[in-house]
Amino acid sequence: MNILKIENLTVKANEKEILKDFNLEIKSGEIHVIMGPNGTGKSTLTKVIMGDKNYKIVKGKITYNGKNINKMEVYERARMGIFLGMQLPLEIEGVSNADFLRTALREKEKENFKLLSFIKEIESLTSKLHMDKEMIHRGINEGFSGGERKKNEILQMNILKPDVVLLDEIDSGLDVDSLKLVGESVMEYFNERKPAILLVTHYQRLLDYIKPDFIHVMYDGHIVLSGDKTLALKIEKEGYDKIVGNIHE
Ligand SMILES: Nc1ncnc2c1ncn2[C@@H]1O[C@H](COP(=O)(O)OP(=O)(O)O)[C@@H](O)[C@H]1O
Ligand SMILES: [Mg+2]
Repeated sequence: MNILKIENLTVKANEKEILKDFNLEIKSGEIHVIMGPNGTGKSTLTKVIMGDKNYKIVKGKITYNGKNINKMEVYERARMGIFLGMQLPLEIEGVSNADFLRTALREKEKENFKLLSFIKEIESLTSKLHMDKEMIHRGINEGFSGGERKKNEILQMNILKPDVVLLDEIDSGLDVDSLKLVGESVMEYFNERKPAILLVTHYQRLLDYIKPDFIHVMYDGHIVLSGDKTLALKIEKEGYDKIVGNIHE
C-alpha cells in the first residue's frame, strides 16, 4: 500500500506564508476531497506535493512510503507515480500531446513500452472522453478550451497510470455532460487501480460521480474540519462562513 503523508507543513511563496502547519495522510484506495474558500492554499498544497519550486517549505515534511520527498524534483516525483491535474493547465506550443505522452510513458515503462497498445489506448480514451481525435496531435493544450484542457489532464492520468492522483478543480470549465464523463472516468480509474486520490473542488455535483471517503475543509492554510461525504452537502447548504464561523466561536 502507498501512503502519502504531510506533516506540520508550513510553506511560503514570496515571503507570504500560505500553508500553516498542514497535516494530511492519504493511502491507496482512499479518495480525499478538499474544499474551502478561495485563497486558502488548496492549489498551493497540490503544487507543493508535486514539487513546484515557487513554494518554499519552511517547516514540516512530505513523505511517500516513509521516504522524505521535500527536496525531490518534479520529474522524480512523477516517476515515483505522483500526478497533478492542474487548476489551470498550461499551454505548451511545439510539443504535441501524443509526443509528450509517448515520451513520458516510454521513460516510465522502458522496454515494456508497446507503441501499438499506446496508440490503441489513446484512441479508446479520446473516444470515451468525447475528445476530437486530432487534438492529440496538436501542441499540448494549444487552443484547447478550458473544458478540453481538463479532459486532457484526465487523458494524461489514464495513460501515465499514477499511484497518487492530485486533481485541482478538475470540474471547473466543464459542461454537465463533460463533468459526467470526467467524473466517471476518474471513478473507473480509481476502481481499476486503487490509487490515492486528492481532489480539490468547490462543488458537490462532482461528488455525484466521484465518491469520497473523506471531506476536509481548508481555511487559512490548514484543515479546520473533516468529515464524510455529507459534509459537502452541508457546505453547499450553509456556506463556509457559517461552518468555519462555528469552529472559531
Ligand atoms: N507564487 C505565489 N506567490 C505569492 N503568493 C501566492 C503564490 N501562490 C499563491 N499565492 C497566494 O496564496 C494564497 C493561496 O493561493 P491558492 O493556493 O491558489 O489558493 P486556493 O487554491 O485555495 O484558492 C492566495 O492568497 C494566493 O494569492
Ligand atoms: Mg486553487
